[in-house]
Amino acid sequence: MTVIEAAMDYAKRLFSGNAGGHDFDHSMRVYKNAMDIAQSVPGCDLEVVALAALLHDADDHKLFATENNAHLRAFLKERGIGPEKTERICRAVNSVSFSQNRGRRPDTVEGKIVQDADRLDAIGAIGIARAFAYGGEHGRPMEASVQHFYDKLLLLKDEMNTEPGRRLAGERHAFMEAFLREYYEETGETPPAANEKKER
Ligand code: ADP
Ligand code: NI
Repeated sequence: MTVIEAAMDYAKRLFSGNAGGHDFDHSMRVYKNAMDIAQSVPGCDLEVVALAALLHDADDHKLFATENNAHLRAFLKERGIGPEKTERICRAVNSVSFSQNRGRRPDTVEGKIVQDADRLDAIGAIGIARAFAYGGEHGRPMEASVQHFYDKLLLLKDEMNTEPGRRLAGERHAFMEAFLREYYEETGETPPAANEKKER
């Protein structure tokens, strides 16, 4: 088994109890997005990108009570990954979360790629599905998930780090806009963004 296959196995075990936004499939989609982006970004370390993408949520504080990337480090140690590469993988993973880094961009190319890959999974058709799954999981009404588009998801396309990430985000953004147009047409409600524009 390659280290990548072992990381998939490990992610599958870690996320087996989760439905919706943070299941194993999220890790796999982020991995796929990251490898697609990495193909057109010269000079990145593909193994760092792959392992950071697959295990980017392995120590997410919303899901696990680990500190200092304990899950990730234990896995890498068991697979014989050396200290230098381990630090690069942890650094990439730790730069992905926007809120934990007070909005600072990742300072390594691998971090930039994985952050873009994670953001792509929050927008487009899959992003729409995840937003409503999240709302349902937290017992919130549908409007709360729709509001999340205006608070966060529609802003992500302008926050991308890489050229391929920006292009893919543009396509997924257009799909979300089409969804919202149809949603408001069917409900007869007024979109919050349109309200704001009228007032200005
Ligand atoms: P990640 O850790 O993968 O970056 P988050 O934990 O921030 O993602 O969110 C997981 C998923 O839940 C994302 O698709 C996100 O858009 C969605 N989500 C987060 N907060 C809300 C919210 N308040 N309403 C609806 N969806 C949300
Ligand atoms: Ni994630």
